[in-house]
Amino acid sequence: MAAFLGGSAAATGRFFFPNVIYEPSQKFNAGPVKSYDVGVSTRWLNEQRVWIIRTDKGIYAMWARCTHLGCTPSWFDDQGRFRCPCHGSNFNQGGDVIAGPAPRPLWRAKVELAATGDLIVDKAILEDLPGKRDNPPFFISLNA
Ligand code: FES
Repeated sequence: MAAFLGGSAAATGRFFFPNVIYEPSQKFNAGPVKSYDVGVSTRWLNEQRVWIIRTDKGIYAMWARCTHLGCTPSWFDDQGRFRCPCHGSNFNQGGDVIAGPAPRPLWRAKVELAATGDLIVDKAILEDLPGKRDNPPFFISLNA
């Protein structure tokens, strides 16, 4: 009886200390917006798995994860497209599917401009719908 009650008390006590997984923040400072030229930047590809893309209208961040099965596409500047090495999906600079089995566009991450002029990217908040992804908080308009 004492072993049963002791075991029950221990199990009840353990219930108050749930397992917690501490993951790194999905938010990072991508540096000064001014440091990005028009085009696709791979500066944060290895460290954050994100491309920073600047156009003549503004800037946005795209998650470098293929929407088919999750491989990392590569940017081909001469072809103006992202190409996935796994099953051949192609995406244009905006992230739209132009070839292959990928079922939906690439995801864009939330971006904001810090008071210092730095670009803050938050990969925890994503959008891929045309219309929504082209507006804040997934796009920052810049007057070039
Ligand atoms: S994972 Fe990219 S095409 Fe299959």
